[in-house]
Amino acid sequence: MAVRTILRYPEPLLKKISAPVVVFDDALKQLAQDMAETMYDAPGVGLAAPQVGELTRLIVIDCSGRENPPDLIVAVNPEIVEKEGESCEEEGCLSVPEYYAVVKRFERVTMTYQDIEGNPQRRQAEGLLAVAMQHEIDHLQGVLFVDHLSPLKRSIFRKKYKKLMQEREEA
Ligand code: NI
Repeated sequence: MAVRTILRYPEPLLKKISAPVVVFDDALKQLAQDMAETMYDAPGVGLAAPQVGELTRLIVIDCSGRENPPDLIVAVNPEIVEKEGESCEEEGCLSVPEYYAVVKRFERVTMTYQDIEGNPQRRQAEGLLAVAMQHEIDHLQGVLFVDHLSPLKRSIFRKKYKKLMQEREEA
């Protein structure tokens, strides 16, 4: 297993649409393992393949929290098939370090996907896990959480983020 480099906004690859997985081979298993290790190392609660430079419809999520046993979800070709309610929680992203913003999402969702062997799976979620599913699937469409902000908030974000990255380079 290997921890991979996480691409950061404004990397153009993060804006691209990922391709469906059709072959469930060792390379896919390796990528999933690397992504899980990269997510836990960061640490984060979710990671999508484009964030490590692979335009492949694969996400990993673990929202179990530090006190609980791990609950790693490896989801291939994930899709939200049912959704209801509304939630407004603060989100962050490993590709947009040190920036957090409230995003409007569905409160409860059902995600269908294939496991790493290609078997169809279905999982219902609410709260943090539901938000993570929506956030990670967005990545496969080239959408970042900051793309959900109002035009005004987005322009504030761009300025703030640019400044932050400049400070970081100078440090
Ligand atoms: Ni993200």
